[in-house]
Amino acid sequence: MRVEDFILKNYNSGIESGLVKWESPSNIALVKYWGKKENQIPENPSISFTLSNCKTITELTFTKKQNKEFSFDVYFEGDKNEAFKPKIQTFFDRIEAYMPFLRDYHFKIETSNTFPHSSGIASSASGMSALSLCLMSIERLLSEEKVSDEVFNQKASFLARLGSGSACRSIEGELVIWGENESFPDGSDLYGVKYTDDIHPNFKNYQDTILLVDKGEKQVSSTVGHKLMYGHPFAKQRFTQAHDNLGKLKTILASGNLDEFIKIVESEALTLHAMMMTSMPYFILMKPNTLQIINKIWAYREKTNSKICFTLDAGANVHVLYPEVEKENILEFINNELVSYCENGHYICDQIGFGANQIEI
Ligand code: DP6
Repeated sequence: MRVEDFILKNYNSGIESGLVKWESPSNIALVKYWGKKENQIPENPSISFTLSNCKTITELTFTKKQNKEFSFDVYFEGDKNEAFKPKIQTFFDRIEAYMPFLRDYHFKIETSNTFPHSSGIASSASGMSALSLCLMSIERLLSEEKVSDEVFNQKASFLARLGSGSACRSIEGELVIWGENESFPDGSDLYGVKYTDDIHPNFKNYQDTILLVDKGEKQVSSTVGHKLMYGHPFAKQRFTQAHDNLGKLKTILASGNLDEFIKIVESEALTLHAMMMTSMPYFILMKPNTLQIINKIWAYREKTNSKICFTLDAGANVHVLYPEVEKENILEFINNELVSYCENGHYICDQIGFGANQIEI
C-alpha cells in the first residue's frame, strides 16, 4: 500500500450519530524504534510482542455538526481531561487527509486504562491504537466501499503510527514488525505487519512482568528522545544494527534458541539507553534500582540456568521476559528478590497477546 491508498474517497456523511468502542493493548519492543524521519517514518525497523493485560479501552461517540472546525471532548477515567487534548489535536491534523469526515462530527472520546495512570507505563501505544480503531469503525459505517479486515487493520495501524509510532504495532498480535527491511519483504514504514513466519512453541504465552521502578512522568518524552538521534555520533551504526538484529531474531524465533534471544533483547535495551547516554544533551534514564534488578536477573540466570531476561523502554521500569514454563519459579524470584526495588512494591503481570478487540455496545 502507498500513502495515497489510505485516503478515504467515497463516503456518506448522512449518518447523524453513533457510538463505537475498542480495547487495544500496549506492546513491548524487542528490537527498538528510536529515531524517526518526518511524518513518523522510522529510521530503523522494529519488532514487538503485543501485550495482553495492559490495555486502553476507548468509547467514541460521534454527532453530526454544522461548522467545519475540529470538535472533540476527552474524558479519562470518567473525568474531563484537557491535558490529552493537544496530542489528539495534533493527531487529527495529521490524519485529516485520510479521514475527511473528521470535520463533519463532534467526538466525545471516553478512555480508560487497565493499568494505573501513574505507573510510568506509556499509554500512547494502547491509547492511539484504540482511538484509531474507533475512527476506522466510523469510517466503515460511512464508507461506500466494503473494506476487508486486512485493509481495515492496515489503515488502523497507519493512522495509529501518525499518533505515536509504536502504536502501529498494537493492532494485532502476537508479534508485529514495523519498518522496511531485508529480512521481511512485507515490512512497511507506513504500518505494522503481523509476524507470520514460524514461531517456536518456546515463545507461546511468553511472559512479561513489568517491575515499576519509577512511576513518575518520563524524564524525556519520546518525541524529545527520537530527536536526540539527529546528528547523533553513533546513529548510523545503530540503525544498521537494528536491521541486523531483526534478521537474527527471525532465525531465533523459528529455532526457539532462548540463549540467543536473550542476547539480542538485552543488547537492544542497553543500546537504547546507551544512545541516550551518548546524545547531546545526554540522559541517564535508568535509576539505581533498575541496575540492581538487572544484576539480580543476571545472577539468577547464572545460578539457575533460567531463560529469564530483561528489556527496557525509555524509562526506569524493567520488563522481565521469560517462557511460560518458568512462571512459578520466576514469580517466586521476583517476590523474594526484586519487589523491594519497585516503587511501593508494585509490578504488573502480563504476557503476549493477540491484539485489539472491538467491544459490542
Ligand atoms: C523506546 O512510539 O512513544 O518505546 O512516535 O514519538 O510517539 P512517538 O514515539 P514512541 O516511541 C517508543 C520508543 C520505545 C521503543 C519502541 O517501542 O520501539
